[in-house]
Amino acid sequence: MSKETVLISGGAGYIGSHTTVALVEAGYDVVVIDNFSNSEAGAIEGVEKILGRKITFEKIDTCDKDALRGVFERHQFNTVIHFAAYKAVGESMAEPLKYYQNNLVSFMNIVEMMKEFNRPSILFSSSATVYGDAETLPVTEQTPRQPATSPYGNTKQIAEDILRDCCRAYERLYGIALRYFNPIGAHPSALIGELPRGVPNNLLPFVTQTAAGIRERLSVFGNDYDTPDGTCLRDYIDVVDLAKAHVAAVDRMTAGKMDEKYEIFNVGTGSPVSVLELLTRFEAVNDLKLPYTIVGRRPGDVPAVWADTSYANKVLGWKAERPLDDTLRAAWAWEKRIRNIK
Ligand code: UFG
Repeated sequence: MSKETVLISGGAGYIGSHTTVALVEAGYDVVVIDNFSNSEAGAIEGVEKILGRKITFEKIDTCDKDALRGVFERHQFNTVIHFAAYKAVGESMAEPLKYYQNNLVSFMNIVEMMKEFNRPSILFSSSATVYGDAETLPVTEQTPRQPATSPYGNTKQIAEDILRDCCRAYERLYGIALRYFNPIGAHPSALIGELPRGVPNNLLPFVTQTAAGIRERLSVFGNDYDTPDGTCLRDYIDVVDLAKAHVAAVDRMTAGKMDEKYEIFNVGTGSPVSVLELLTRFEAVNDLKLPYTIVGRRPGDVPAVWADTSYANKVLGWKAERPLDDTLRAAWAWEKRIRNIK
């Protein structure tokens, strides 16, 4: 007997694909939609291989409201997880309109359809980017948001606000925003993982591509920060643990257990790790050497951000569990599989 059905937008993406697996493993049925703008059909095949069964998938652009309406007409579900969005900080600076258009229109279309079809629960993918350069660390959900430093970050803040206002205004609508810290790693099967197009923006995909010989060397952006080893501190959360946080949030929504109509949770490990520590651990657990150079700071980087996860631990009953070493092994196993490296 399945629990209820969940609509997953952007379910072929990095976090979406891992969450799809976790939800089905937890007994939910899923309807996955994606337009493959930054993902591949292979991700759905990987999900199906892991699960040993087919899933319901439709190639849909969430910005196309009529197409989205069709999904709501064809399928019965009470809960939506909205992942579909662009996510490259640098690109969002160069092409802000592309980001506002895509990320906000798709989000508003989803909320509008939920209202039109009386579907009550939405889980939104937010980001630790909303905290900016926080005054106190670790950040709790009450730590004030800082003005966004990129259009990408601004779309996350605006969407959070839209969700808060809609949950307040529409009696039947309930929302949860999960603020992700730095998702890394891959499924232990190595059948799904992160698949950046072009030059990766984020640290770990750059690391694995350098280890694979695709990139010549890695740049460490700054070692003169006011941190223990001078490099930035982040909260790297395993993508499988992150996926499980979604299951816990969906459980909470479908059980009607929410305390507020709109709730926010930090999803991280609670432990800061420096860039150099991450590189050193990656080298050690995978028994390889990474060529890297210390270069200047990357504009817009905050020196340090990590999560206070006590609220999610207590209220969602969820905790990050996978040791960082396992995560770093899984990231390399995935890169090796997609590059045919033995
Ligand atoms: N870094 C390097 N070299 C690289 C890439 C990154 O040294 O080639 C460093 C960065 O300077 C930073 C750390 O590695 O100190 C992590 O960088 P990422 O780009 O992986 O992650 P960010 O923390 O900058 O960005 C992440 C998400 C964004 C989100 C942001 C803020 O990718 O979506 O957190 O929360 F907006």
